[in-house]
Amino acid sequence: MSRQTYRIAVIAGDGIGQEVIPAGVDILRRAAGQGGFRCDFTDLPWGCEFYLKTGRMMDADWLERLQAFDAIYLGAIGAPGVSDSISARELLLPLRQRLRQFVNLRPMRLMPGIDSPLGGRTAADIDMICVRENSEGEYCGIGGRAHMGTPDELAEQTSIFTRRGIERIARYGFEIARTRPRKLLASATKSNALQHSLVLWDEVVEEVARDYPDVTWRKYYVDAIAARMVTHPQTLDVIIASNLFGDILTDIGSAISGSLGVGPSGNINPDRTAPSMFEPIHGSAPDIAGKGIANPVAAVWAGAMMLEHLGEPATAARVVSAIGRVLAEGSVKTPDLGGEATTKEMAAAIAAHLE
Ligand code: NAD
Ligand code: IPM
Ligand code: MN
Repeated sequence: MSRQTYRIAVIAGDGIGQEVIPAGVDILRRAAGQGGFRCDFTDLPWGCEFYLKTGRMMDADWLERLQAFDAIYLGAIGAPGVSDSISARELLLPLRQRLRQFVNLRPMRLMPGIDSPLGGRTAADIDMICVRENSEGEYCGIGGRAHMGTPDELAEQTSIFTRRGIERIARYGFEIARTRPRKLLASATKSNALQHSLVLWDEVVEEVARDYPDVTWRKYYVDAIAARMVTHPQTLDVIIASNLFGDILTDIGSAISGSLGVGPSGNINPDRTAPSMFEPIHGSAPDIAGKGIANPVAAVWAGAMMLEHLGEPATAARVVSAIGRVLAEGSVKTPDLGGEATTKEMAAAIAAHLE
């Protein structure tokens, strides 16, 4: 048995991040103990409260400090007292971009025991994974504003799509599709309206596809694939998408899987030149923060993705199966899933199913 120790930076962040991440840390610690390895968690107090005290979302040496960890476990960032463009642009997006986490991997699966808002759908119908481009596109941050406060005021927000950026995300998506039973890939595009950026996207995806004759693929316009996720989710498997398209499609995917409280994500640096970061896809949920009723499943599942990335697939699978068993039994559910359990009760039930 390995006695490996993984160093994990924990940024619980804001709102329900402070509720679901402690639940996740506890479960991961137990699972690691049972799996014969250790997770050494270091809490970093960064986020909106830190900003209100210091004027910064993170300490100035954040990049250097995070480099020392094997992975990052993040809750959610964003609070009513701080502009969301500041919290995202000074914490979340710099981490994804500067740590070269160019893949955002987002499984969307209806677990047995959960009722989808799509009537009559079962676990066999909803099993997709979005491979979201996470470094460029609509989120590159280039642009500006001028003539502020005058009738001539304007804003420009540029999208950047590079051959290199498209090629590496497409390749990652096809590699995953190849390992899945159905070997299907859908590319979300909008090359009808966006004749420069998304036409390049389509051309590069088509070139990459030639290396994967075993994968059946086609492109869908993003508006049509959004509808298809609702009307025919069983026809979708791997979805590759730009940064913004992937953001929107994965909230749909999480919602049809039962709740925003279940969808996990991994911000992956496939070259392993810096730590990857794992987080639920949901945000800080100010509407329920502090009530102790947030669903911890997305955060715990994201933790399992982290263990898998660290090289502990057996323990990762045990965590996911514990989640699955609690949901299938159905007696412990948070309000978003139609139950009355608290975050702590749901986490305790998952912990109890680990053994
Ligand atoms: P949100 O995901 O926080 O909430 C949307 C809805 O889903 C709310 O009704 C919320 O109560 C519900 N919900 C979300 N997670 C839940 C959970 N675990 N259990 C039960 N219900 C849950 O999105 P929003 O309201 O658009 O954004 C709130 C804040 O979070 C904003 O500041 C936004 O910028 C930020 N945000 C951060 C991240 C991130 O850190 N990765 C992601 C999305 C949004
Ligand atoms: C997500 C979030 C972020 C995104 C926001 C908070 C910038 O919605 O992680 O999905 O758009 O990537
Ligand atoms: Mn989002």
